[in-house]
Amino acid sequence: MTSQTLRDARKYEEVYEKNISGESRPAFHLSARIGWMNDPNGFSYYDGKYHMFYQYHPYDCHWGPMHWGHAVSADLLHWEYLPAALAPDESYDKDGCYSGSALTLPDGRQLLMYTGVVREPQKNGGFLEIQTQCLAVGDGRDYEKYAHNPVLDEKDLPKGSSRYDFRDPKMWQRADGTYLCVVGNRPADGSGQVVMFESTDGFQWKFKKVLAENQGRFGLMWECPDFFFLDGKAVLITSPQDMLPKELEYHNGNGTLCLIGDYDKETDTFTQQHDQSIDYGIDFYAPQTILTPDGRRIMIGWMQNWDTCTLRNTDLPWFGQMSLPRELSIKNGRLYQQPLRELEGLRCNRAAYKNVVFHETTVLPGIKGRRIDMELSLAPGDAERMYEKFAVRFAQNDRYYTAFSFRPKESVLKIDRKFSGTRKAIIHQRRSLVNAKNGELKLRLILDRFSAELFINDGEQTMTAVIYTDLDADGISFYADGSVRMDIVKFDLEEKEYETV
Ligand code: FRU
Repeated sequence: MTSQTLRDARKYEEVYEKNISGESRPAFHLSARIGWMNDPNGFSYYDGKYHMFYQYHPYDCHWGPMHWGHAVSADLLHWEYLPAALAPDESYDKDGCYSGSALTLPDGRQLLMYTGVVREPQKNGGFLEIQTQCLAVGDGRDYEKYAHNPVLDEKDLPKGSSRYDFRDPKMWQRADGTYLCVVGNRPADGSGQVVMFESTDGFQWKFKKVLAENQGRFGLMWECPDFFFLDGKAVLITSPQDMLPKELEYHNGNGTLCLIGDYDKETDTFTQQHDQSIDYGIDFYAPQTILTPDGRRIMIGWMQNWDTCTLRNTDLPWFGQMSLPRELSIKNGRLYQQPLRELEGLRCNRAAYKNVVFHETTVLPGIKGRRIDMELSLAPGDAERMYEKFAVRFAQNDRYYTAFSFRPKESVLKIDRKFSGTRKAIIHQRRSLVNAKNGELKLRLILDRFSAELFINDGEQTMTAVIYTDLDADGISFYADGSVRMDIVKFDLEEKEYETV
């Protein structure tokens, strides 16, 4: 039975999304149907389609009582909205249905696991959130919450672990048909840990072990864990809160973390060998992955960060976008990310130049646009003298631009969206150390109307940022201090319309 709360949300989104024109949304990134969107949830392939749910507050452009929004896609680029899937309408989730995941049951139904939130008033007038794990079962459109919710609560946690920070279950099925899930949690030391639970039927869950402990190394609480095997390695991704910076690898605040290591399937023991940021730009958080039917591990993140949510004016009808789906691989102990290969199907209007040597600001005929896929290969233009700086400016007119700039002597690549039209004093720049030998660097820049995603050295690193620059700022220019030689191939990316099923 659909609750009144869910019926209200469904009615609201259906009526009010009509006020949002196609041009005021991204063309091939999923955005909130109406109101607010954060984390990707329940990313799955079910009944012949990709499903993406998301943290959703339809009534406002701010975070509020969390619902689950819902969209489906055949190719991960064209999304169709479905009615909201979950609303905070039960005693155990009345203050929010937080992040979670999905899988397909043997009987063909789809199982969702999410965090139910109930606010507990405190003596000081504030409140803490009691977080438990809950289930809902459905047919890909309508979901019924499980009668025995919650299925995991504080009683299932190791002693000293917090019942207030216990969220974001990610489930998967093992080869033997049983299920595991990982959940973010906070142990007695106040930092983060990932706890693992197992189940034979998807409904009755029991504690298995602490899969990974933060021990204060990477921020505090670890949100939105995901665990999978890829290219012979075990990979744990999570989004730590309250990070301290570490050189240019990790920045302050909410960050992303990828731990790569080995896994002993007999004892379910994860041994970490490498750590890295997932994205080195400004706006990327809480990513979730799936294994596609053709065996690719694909990741989508919330293309935003909690620390920069005020970038956009809040009187607008929608807030929040998902990143491009990214194909993952592991090479030499590093996570590589490449844009979903289907994106190439949207390419049109090719423009290419080889061996362009330039010394100052340069504009190239045919190189402009706000929905583009552009590959650049850089090298010094003068074999005797290394250049000082290269920059590509985009979303540019006489008032605005955003830039990626590279200083080969420091091997530092920087994004700067200070002049993108923002009126807020928040983080607008971020720098990353990149691998570049002799001033050579490969970049692939994907622009959608309101975002820039940069893939560096064939996916060795990424830098992502949203920009809300006026759409008529569609210029692109290149700049060199010194002499730069550049090959460039640029495509426009075709428009695709959003549809409602
Ligand atoms: C991460 C997060 C999750 C939580 C959700 C609430 O961005 O804080 O831990 O489930 O957002 O909307």
